[in-house]
Formats: sequence, structure tokens, C-alpha cells
Amino acid sequence: MMLKNRLARYFVRIPTIETERLILRRILPKDCENMYDYSKREEVTRYLLWIPHESREYTRRYIDALQTQYRSGQFYDWALELKENGRMIGTCGFAAIDEKNNSAEVGYVLAPDYWGFGYAPEALREILRVGFETLGFNRIEARYMTGNEKSRRVMEKCGMKFEGIRREALYVKDSYRSIGYCSMLKDEFFSLYGRHEVKNEPKPHWYDAFVGGVNKK
Ligand SMILES: CC(C)(COP(=O)(O)OP(=O)(O)OC[C@H]1O[C@@H](n2cnc3c(N)ncnc32)[C@H](O)[C@@H]1OP(=O)(O)O)[C@@H](O)C(=O)NCCC(=O)NCCS
Repeated sequence: MMLKNRLARYFVRIPTIETERLILRRILPKDCENMYDYSKREEVTRYLLWIPHESREYTRRYIDALQTQYRSGQFYDWALELKENGRMIGTCGFAAIDEKNNSAEVGYVLAPDYWGFGYAPEALREILRVGFETLGFNRIEARYMTGNEKSRRVMEKCGMKFEGIRREALYVKDSYRSIGYCSMLKDEFFSLYGRHEVKNEPKPHWYDAFVGGVNKK
């Protein structure tokens, strides 16, 4: 089966993943208030490509649009829900997938009240696991704007290796930004974390049974 179909099938019903302190799950309309609460903040978006959300209504429309993208298997981010209080405190997932080269880019955002507790690395490790074990990527990269060194630290805490900086590679919000790159290769992941049984494998879609298994591997 083409990677594209397998990926879409995985993300159409993006699985819930549990870590020690977090539940990674689909972003839902009920997350609007929590997402708006951090997405409206300049300190959150300073090193991101987007500007702060202008209103709750904007966040609501954004989450609605995500539901459509999930349905077509073309959105790859999880909500991060804190087990201890049920609050949605950010997102983490794949920002882009490069099917031709069997690689992906990861990204994450957290609400400021929850910075400094290691939640981003805790989520990122599981996303790397999904990427290498379940989706079979060969390479996963992450990039950050220079100045955002704690984001680089998150990448390195997960075992990603710093590759270098592309100087003033992006023009974002009226200025040229230099972009740092970190990456991890499949074999590096397995030698660091071990190879576990594949989990979070999506169940076959009802349509596959309906068409008599035509879409099966
Ligand atoms: C970047 C972000 C995800 C970090 O998440 P987090 O869960 O707070 O990360 P951690 O708790 O692991 O803390 C970050 C690490 O960076 C370190 N750090 C903090 N400030 C730093 C700095 N100026 N330079 C280098 N390292 C720094 C911390 O000491 C910590 O490392 P340690 O555990 O070895 O002490 C969070 O700050 C965030 O959401 N920022 C806004 C959105 C964003 O920039 N996303 C990333 C886009 S690339």
C-alpha cells in the first residue's frame, strides 16, 4: 500500500496515547478555551510562524477547520491533556510529512504556565516512537528559530542531534530568522529507546471490510 494511504488511515482516527503525565488525543471543539488562552499570547508565538489568535472566535474556527483536516487524514497534531487536571495544555505532532523521502518534521507548543516541567520532551518522545515504530519513518527532523534555545534543548533531551543553522533562511513577521535543525534517524531511535512492539496501530476501517479487503496491505 502507498504510504500516503497508510498515513491517512492512521490520522483519520488519530489514536489516543498515554504517557506518564499526559494523554495525547485528538484536538476537540471543547479545547477552544484552553487553546485560546495560550494561543493569544505573544510569548507563545514569538518563535513560531503564526501570530497570536485575535479572538476566541478565531480559535473556534481554527479548531473547526482541524476537524475537517482530521477527517481527510491530513492533520497530524495531538492535543496534550494533563492527567492531573484534565486541562488541554498544548499540542505536539508532525508539522509536515515528506512521503518521497520517508521523513517528517515534528513540532510542539505549550501553555506558559506549564513550561519548565518537561512536558514537551515527554510528548515528543512518544511522537518520535509513533513516527519510527508505527509509521516507519527513516528520519524525523525539528527546527527552531535561533533564540528559542530551550526548544533546541527539548529536541536534544529526546536524543535528536543538532545539524546546524540556516542563516536568515526564513522571513517571518517582518524579519529574517535563522533556523536551527535537529534530527533523528530510525536506527538512532531504536538504539536509544529499544525496539518495542508496535502499538497504536489503527484498526482497519469499516470500508476495508466493505470492499472485501481490496485496500489491505
Ligand atoms: C519550547 C517549549 C515547548 C519547551 O517546553 P517545556 O516542556 O517547557 O520544556 P522543558 O521543561 O524540557 O524545558 C526546556 C529545557 O530548556 C532549558 N532552557 C530554558 N531556557 C533556556 C535557554 N535560554 N537556553 C537553553 N536552554 C534553556 C531548560 O533548562 C530545560 O532543560 P533541562 O530540563 O535540561 O533543564 C515551550 O517553552 C513552548 O511551548 N514555547 C512556545 C512555543 C514554541 O516555541 N515551540 C517550539 C517551536 S520550535
